Amino acid sequence: MKTKIAVLVSGGGTNLQALLDAQYAGKIPSGEIVLVVSNNSKAFALERAAKAGIKALCITKKECGGQEQFEEKLAKTLEERGIGLIILAGFMSILGEKFTHRFENRIINVHPALIPSFCGKGYYGLKVHEEALKYGVKVTGATVHFVNEIPDGGKIILQKAVEIEEGDTPEILQKRVMEQAEWILLPQAAEIVSKQLAGKNA
Ligand code: GAR
Repeated sequence: MKTKIAVLVSGGGTNLQALLDAQYAGKIPSGEIVLVVSNNSKAFALERAAKAGIKALCITKKECGGQEQFEEKLAKTLEERGIGLIILAGFMSILGEKFTHRFENRIINVHPALIPSFCGKGYYGLKVHEEALKYGVKVTGATVHFVNEIPDGGKIILQKAVEIEEGDTPEILQKRVMEQAEWILLPQAAEIVSKQLAGKNA
C-alpha cells in the first residue's frame, strides 16, 4: 500500500509544486500526496493544491487559540486521514516536541542550506541566503532531513551543494538553490521515506 503523504506549507509552494509534478511523472511510486495543509490562508500553495485537485485545508494558530492547540488540531487532522508521511515544504512554524514525538521518523523538511550551516531557529526563507552571502561562503545548497524536537537538527536524508556566483543577491541565490537542489531532492526524499514506511506497514 502507498504511504499517504500530507504536505505542510506556508507560502508560495514551489516545493509543493515540485512534489506534485514528481507525483504525476511517476517519481513517487511508494507514496501519494492526499492532503495539503497551510497555516496561512493567503498562501499561494493552496491554489496550487486546488489546481491539482488535492484536498487542501487551512489551520491557523490564531483560530486555534495558540501553538499547542494548533498542533493538536493539526495532529488530529493528519491522524484522522491516515497520513503516514508529513512533508514540511516551506512550512514556517516550528513544531513542538509533543508533535514531533507523535510522528517520530514520519516528518521530513527541506532546508535551503547545507546543515549544519545557516540553520536552526530564525533561519528560514530568504534570511538563510542573506546570511550565507554575508558570511561569504562559496558553496551552499539544500538539505532534506527528518524533523525532531531540535530545529533543523534531525537526521539528514539528502544534501546537494550549489555554487555561489559573483553578483548573487539573496533572491538570485534562493532561486538557484531551489532549481538546482530543493526541487530535485525533496521528491527524491519523499520516495525514499515513503518506501521505507510502506515497507513497515506491509
Ligand atoms: C524554500 O526555500 C524552503 O527551503 C524554505 O522556504 C522556501 C519556501 O519556498 N524553508 C525554510 O527556510 C524552512 N526552514 P516555497 O514555498 O516556494 O516552497
